Amino acid sequence: MTAGRVRTAILISGRGTNLAALINACRDPSFPAEIVLVFSNVEGAEGLKRAEAAGVATRALSHKNFTSREAFDDAVDRILREAKVSLICEAGFMRIHSEAFVRRWEGRILNIHPSLLPAFKGTKVHQQALDAGVRVSGCTVHFIVPELDSGPIIAQAAVPVLTGDTVETLSARILETEHKLYPEALRLVAEGKVKLVNGRAVFS
Ligand code: GRF
Repeated sequence: MTAGRVRTAILISGRGTNLAALINACRDPSFPAEIVLVFSNVEGAEGLKRAEAAGVATRALSHKNFTSREAFDDAVDRILREAKVSLICEAGFMRIHSEAFVRRWEGRILNIHPSLLPAFKGTKVHQQALDAGVRVSGCTVHFIVPELDSGPIIAQAAVPVLTGDTVETLSARILETEHKLYPEALRLVAEGKVKLVNGRAVFS
């Protein structure tokens, strides 16, 4: 709509609370990105309904209809290009990409992870944090690279782990912080203030 805003897609698989936070941030016409598409590999994902309610275009395509990771990623890539997307934000997108897809979008594809990376990669992240006995956890927005949860870090926020925390209480406290951090990180990338250069996040 507004000229100059970075055309951004959000990829989700589930409930989409980070998606809602990003859509809210982009409602401000002075925000440097606009959400032009929400894509899900899960038809009927709750996040798709949030996007529709906000008037954002949605597409869903199940990976189960494809015989290989590459074929699915090619279809996703086509959808993103049709929508003239320049930047991708993954928010609870539960598919690992093919290396070719990641390379194609290098420096233009972000993810949010609910720990202070490089601690606690993968799944059951909050259980890993509780098991390790850390007193501080948090969340990280990073550029996606082929290796899972290992990309150069764009932004992080720390969240205390409190006595008696469970996976539910800790994840809820971190999620609130994710909703603030992801729009801040998207702003930095959309304004060109952080770039992926030679495998590192370079800030200016
Ligand atoms: C978030 O905790 C995010 O960090 C992780 O998946 C969860 C997605 O939650 N990658 P939501 O769908 O945004 O509510």
